[in-house]
Amino acid sequence: MKHAYLANLSIDKSDPGPLHRQLFLKLRDNILQNVIKAGTRLPSTRLLAEDLGVSRNTVLSAFDQLMAEGYLEARVGAGTYVSTQIPDELLGTNSSSEKPNPKARKIKLSRQAEALRPTGPAKPYHQGPFSPGRPELDQFPFEIWARLLAKHWRKPEPDYLSGNPVGGATALREALAEHLAQTRAVNCEPDQVIVLSGSQQAIHLVIKAFAETGDPILMEDPGFPGIRNSIIAAGANPIAVPVDDQGFNLEAAKSLAPKARLACLSPSHQYPLGPTMSLQRRLEILHWAGENDRFVLEDDYDSEYRYSGRPLSSLQGLDTEDRVLYVGSMSKVMFSGLRVGYLVVPKDLVDVFLALRRDIDGHSPAVAEAALAEFISEGHLATHIRKMRILYEKRQKVLISELRAKCGDFLSVDEQECGMHLIAFLRPEIEDKKVEALARDQGLMLRALSAFYEGPEKKNALIIGFAGTHEKQMPRLVGRLAQILETCAAHMQT
Ligand SMILES: Cc1ncc(COP(=O)(O)O)c(C=O)c1O
Repeated sequence: MKHAYLANLSIDKSDPGPLHRQLFLKLRDNILQNVIKAGTRLPSTRLLAEDLGVSRNTVLSAFDQLMAEGYLEARVGAGTYVSTQIPDELLGTNSSSEKPNPKARKIKLSRQAEALRPTGPAKPYHQGPFSPGRPELDQFPFEIWARLLAKHWRKPEPDYLSGNPVGGATALREALAEHLAQTRAVNCEPDQVIVLSGSQQAIHLVIKAFAETGDPILMEDPGFPGIRNSIIAAGANPIAVPVDDQGFNLEAAKSLAPKARLACLSPSHQYPLGPTMSLQRRLEILHWAGENDRFVLEDDYDSEYRYSGRPLSSLQGLDTEDRVLYVGSMSKVMFSGLRVGYLVVPKDLVDVFLALRRDIDGHSPAVAEAALAEFISEGHLATHIRKMRILYEKRQKVLISELRAKCGDFLSVDEQECGMHLIAFLRPEIEDKKVEALARDQGLMLRALSAFYEGPEKKNALIIGFAGTHEKQMPRLVGRLAQILETCAAHMQT
């Protein structure tokens, strides 16, 4: 069995105290803070003494004391291990209390970081039943994916190991350009495609490229919080523009911020409300952008899943004046852990975006990108999307009929033409945020729509994902939701 690699352990020889005591305290803190986990094998005393530049006796006496106090245990013939018997309440404490309490420190951060600082303790976010945006993972063709990854790792292109394909593996840029042309009528050459670590990174870069401090940047209200946060991170000013049944309300935008130069939109499937932007509105927005050196960020996040209505091509495909920066993601069509998104930029902006990208993280793992290129060009992605579209359509129908049957007294719901979630409007006295909190306690990860608004006018509804929740589980899960709604409604009456 391998032993722990204690890279953060060092001995300060200028410390006047005995060295074995110093080593004892450092090892004990590492164990209590779970840096060295229960059951971990420690290096031999000889090896540790060599690594730390101390005598073997120093290590032996530190180990002896740790053993006497129950932090370590010796296993005959197998070495020294961190005890598995340390009580949980001790773990996570720092007994030597040498470090200052981080909460007591007053750190001066930038205005942007302060604006983004969470107000309460960070809630761990895990996906679960009804998570919006969660795809079905059990039916992903992992065998094909694993075969392609193995193939490309076995014989990787040297450039992908130590070169610097800032815009992404060439094969992937080519495969994406073709895929986007066929499926979204995106009009581009492969070198206009920049592969990134998710579409959030694309959003961040576009806003960074256009926003000066204090600039008004238009976003939809309700809208994707990642857009608002990127605007704030850039020191700019998010302008929340209402959404109507055709999407982003351009007239409202013009009066709210006549000088704005960038609008962040989701025309195919407004996030999170869902309307598809009409052709008329698209043409008006392109005209508005062309008029005065303005740009549009098009977030095409889950447009691959359309169930009804007329499929409209991307805004980028309609743009004749190079005003649109198109953003897409593999998170919904594959899985978000892949961390692949992409940005398609006008030709005269390619260089600047490559430079901006190089500044943050150089590039993404290129060998995985080469495997993804083949996954797309061999047709596996298209096949998977086709299968998932049929499955998600069925799941949406089952969810709607369950919601209407079991929760119809509390909410109303309509079919969505596109995407992976639906919107269930609540009776006004049932607060969506309260339902979200209670549902979360029961493992249902739906979201409150009102939390996605910036402005004062908020709709009271639930965002319920259907794509990643098995249709057979829906009757039981909706039953649980019905009980939560009943509790909320009863609470309001008392
Ligand atoms: C509307 C929208 N845009 C962008 C993103 C970012 O996705 P990713 O960074 O995983 O590509 C998300 C993620 O949930 C989203 O819902």
